[in-house]
Amino acid sequence: MDKTKIEVQAITTAQFRNDVLTGLNASPKYMQPKYFYDHQGDLLFQQIMEMEEYYLTNAEMEIFSKQSAAIADLITAENTPFDLIELGAGDATKSIHLLKELSQRKQEFTYLPIDISANVIAHLESHLPKELPGLVIKGLNGDYFEMLHQGTALSNRRKVVLFMGANIGNMELEEARDFCKELNTSLSTGDLLVIGFDLKKNPKQILAAYNDANGITAAFNLNLLHRINRELDADFDLQSFEHYASYDPESGACKSYLISLKDQFVRIGGENIVQFAVNEPVYMEISQKYALSEMEEMAISTGFHCTSRFFDENKYFVDAVWRVD
Ligand code: AVI
Repeated sequence: MDKTKIEVQAITTAQFRNDVLTGLNASPKYMQPKYFYDHQGDLLFQQIMEMEEYYLTNAEMEIFSKQSAAIADLITAENTPFDLIELGAGDATKSIHLLKELSQRKQEFTYLPIDISANVIAHLESHLPKELPGLVIKGLNGDYFEMLHQGTALSNRRKVVLFMGANIGNMELEEARDFCKELNTSLSTGDLLVIGFDLKKNPKQILAAYNDANGITAAFNLNLLHRINRELDADFDLQSFEHYASYDPESGACKSYLISLKDQFVRIGGENIVQFAVNEPVYMEISQKYALSEMEEMAISTGFHCTSRFFDENKYFVDAVWRVD
């Protein structure tokens, strides 16, 4: 490893330790869900997306596989070249349907996938042009906004941003509002945002998606303790914590916790000791569900307006097209 890499690694580990200790010394205790996604976390999330109970993936896949032509119509209505920026592109299995449609229309565009994982970007850059010959792709590896600013500076073409997968749901409402406002200020009047929201629905169905019978979501949450043990030299006993999911049908907040099953002390990195009381919760993640009116209000209050909505057949999920006012 070269020196710069070691320094970057050290900063990242220091940041991780700092965030973990800040969250566990707070009252109530919490963790930051962005840390779920180490190698094992990525594999577990992949399994979550394949679960019977986790309806979100199929719902959004249905929207993109069946309605990409209509979404592409909106994007190309202006008939001018554009940059298509995807935040958190992953393996692009849903957006590839839209990319195909856009490529067929011979509209001049550059696809700029942004992802925190360098592997993801390398994979997309090598595989997508084979599947879609002629696709102009430039991957950006890093933090959303840093890369978005780099991406928007690359050309003065109009921008179309994709933010799918209900990732907005992993932000608290005020955080989501700030995020959309920041997106808005990075864009110009007339630019488009295609954004995916998981909708409020039968509470039992939502709860089942985050409390699956096979315990995959539990393993996904507990894996963060495992990661802390490994990367921060901690001694969490995974048997002494239990996954708990809750859903409030009024607010739409679906929250997951790890509950301490006994009074215990956990050592993190030598000198730091954190105390857990029996039944004390650690707040792990929110997966906020929205009513359509709440989604539209979010658009208006952050400088957009919602021009179109695309639903799956069951109306579990919506991909909305927002236009910068
Ligand atoms: C990535 N995100 C949209 C998922 C969700 O549904 O909130 C993460 C997840 N956590 C547990 N299951 C899925």
